Formats: sequence, C-alpha cells, structure tokens
Amino acid sequence: MTFFSETKQLPPDSLLQLITEFRNDPSPDKIDLGVGVYQDEHGKTPIFEAVELAQRRLQTDEDSKTYLGPLGWPGFADEVRKLVLGEVLEEKLAGRFAVLPTPGGSGALKSAGTLVQRLNPSAKIRLPDPTWANHKPIFLSCDLETVTYAYYDNEATSLDREKMYADLAAAQSGDIIVVHGNCHNPTGEDLSAEDWKFLTDLALEKGIVPFIDIAYQGLGQGFHEDMAHVRSLLESVPEAILCYSFSKNMGLYRERVGAALVMTENADMAERVQSNLNEIARRTYSMPPSYGAALAWYLLSDPDLNASWRKELEQLRKRVVSLRAQVTDALSSEFGDNRFQYITAQNGMFSRLPLTPEQINRFKTESSIYMAGDGRVNMCGFTPAKIARFTENMSSVLK
Ligand SMILES: Cc1ncc(COP(=O)(O)O)c(C=O)c1O
Repeated sequence: MTFFSETKQLPPDSLLQLITEFRNDPSPDKIDLGVGVYQDEHGKTPIFEAVELAQRRLQTDEDSKTYLGPLGWPGFADEVRKLVLGEVLEEKLAGRFAVLPTPGGSGALKSAGTLVQRLNPSAKIRLPDPTWANHKPIFLSCDLETVTYAYYDNEATSLDREKMYADLAAAQSGDIIVVHGNCHNPTGEDLSAEDWKFLTDLALEKGIVPFIDIAYQGLGQGFHEDMAHVRSLLESVPEAILCYSFSKNMGLYRERVGAALVMTENADMAERVQSNLNEIARRTYSMPPSYGAALAWYLLSDPDLNASWRKELEQLRKRVVSLRAQVTDALSSEFGDNRFQYITAQNGMFSRLPLTPEQINRFKTESSIYMAGDGRVNMCGFTPAKIARFTENMSSVLK
C-alpha cells in the first residue's frame, strides 16, 4: 500500500460533466442552456472594453510584483465598500465595516464562513432551497451545520412564501440566514420588498445575522435598483455579512475577484473583525490575487472607465431581459396560456423550467438541448432560432 493507493475516485461536478457532454455532441443544432456564465449571441463570454482599457493602464502603471498583504491591491477594498453602500450609506456606515478582498465570491464565502465558525461554531447556516450548488459544500468545509429554508415552489414557479416565513421564523439567535442579493441562482426568483422587511425584522427581533451573497449586481433590474433592498436592510440592522463577486458583472471570472464585507455595530468591533479576517486570509491563501482586483479598482475609481463599464453592463442586462421576454412570448403562443409568464418576471440569467429529470434527459438525448439537472436554463444560451427549436421541443415534451 502506498500513500495515495486508497484515494477514492470522486464523481465529476455535474455541471462540468454537462459542458463536456455538450462539447462532445456532434449535432450541428445543439443548444447549451446549462452554462453558468454570460454569453453573447455567438456563445462567447466577452472581455468588457473597460477591462481591456484597464489592462493597458495596469501594464503601464504597475512597477512591481512584490507582496501586497491581506488587503491586496491598494484602494480596492474601499471601492468595494463604496459600491455596496452607495454614496448615502457610505457616509453613515463606512466606519462599521471590515472588508477582505478575496479570490472570487467563492473565496469570500469561505473566508466569511470561517469567521462565523470562529465566533459561533454552533451557528446554523440557513440556506434557501434551492440555492447555488456550492453554498452548502463551502459552509460544510468551514465545519458549520447547514439547514435549508423553503424558498421556491417549482410547480407553482414562484416563491414558497408562507413556508419560507415559517422556516425563517424558526431561526435562533446567532444563526446565519443566507440570502441572494438579487438574481437568485438557480431560480431567478428574488425576494420582494416585504420579504426583505421580514428578514430585517427577524434580524432585529432574534439576533440572527443576514448573510447576503451578491454575484449579479447590474444584471437584474438595474445597477442601483439591484442593491436597493440590501441597502435598506443594512440601514436598519446592527450586523450583517456580505459576499461580493465581480465574476459576472465585470466578466472577470478567471481572475478571481471578490470580497467579504462584515458590518458590525461600531468601529472598534469592525477593527477587531478586520484583524480576524486578515488572519483567516493569512492562514489559507495568505493574500488575494491582485491582477483582477486592480482591474476592478480602475473600473470603480476612474470616472471614464466606470461609465464605460456601467454602459456595457447595462447592455448585457438589457439583452438578458429581452431574451426573457422572447422566450416567454414564444412559449405563451405555443401553449396558448400564461404559465410561462414567470420567466419575464424573474431576474438575471437563470430560470428554472418545471420539468422532471426524465423530461430534462429527453431534451438532451432526443434534441441535443442541454440544461442543468434541476431544470435551470441560462437565458444567454438562446438566440431567436434556438428559441423556436426549444419551443417546439417544450411542446412535444409537455403537451
Ligand atoms: C450565487 C453565487 N454566489 C457566488 C458565486 C461565486 O462566484 P465566483 O467565485 O466565481 O466569484 C456564484 C457564481 O456562480 C453564484 O452564482
């Protein structure tokens, strides 16, 4: 027996496997609705023009590759806090924040989860059902217990509100409630103003900590609109945790740019939390990658690059909104009813189709139309021609 001889073979990630199956499918008409990234009408995930300009600026400006420490690229952490808070709250709340730049939003979730475990090892992490597939594994890797709360009714294609409120009300002081800031992944169904108010009241009454995962700012209702509920909550509660990802809204996926932000009751607590976050970084990856954070910093702090980025992001958002409307229209005229209206009403790239695993498999094997195993489809996978073929298939599978 050798050291590695007993290593178990783990199953491949189901979405990565889907990508491979799609790649190997020889059909010229194949449609990929399974991907988790933004794609343009040619199936390409483009580099933002503002990012290209920032790359050139960085090439000239950067004169060393020496270590930068746990906060990484100078000024990035402050810019992220300002972005999250917006001008008005920045003045009121900045002093209560600790910010840790991280390798992507995933790194933020891991660092924040580690902090939670350090402060309250028996905290229950309450996750929406369903949620992004990596939430549970990341929190489990922090030695935390996860439980779910009802979120989405797949048959009704809407929030399971009554059950959600009952499940959330069961949370105990010191528990963590994870919510998606906007563009819920995988359903596209977001919390309403009333739901955010319910969460705020719960935090105030019971001492639970809201944990907000923001991965799609600017891809839902609009750049500021997407943060409105988050900001109202921050204004009212004493403490909160936020994880931010720039993968989607700056297209910086592989550069791994994100941040964990912790709002405490006062500046003294924020300083102590900051020292813990810095130490958590030190003992895992030591310090964050700076290349992507520097690019994000240019886009956030330079007025011209900021305007260019926001304009391009808005074009991406509008394309997604338009695809939602086109898919809804096509399905509505095919089925002659309003059952797919929810697709237009939801936010971001993803929606879930109310299909059984067998039906999802039929799409793949009979028509080379690929979607995630839970029926999640990415709107960016559609073009007008693909919508027509998809609609025909929906008809033959569902009617
Ligand atoms: C809800 C949610 N949170 C976090 C992330 C993490 O993104 P990344 O680690 O690539 O920045 C994603 C990515 O798909 C996501 O959908």
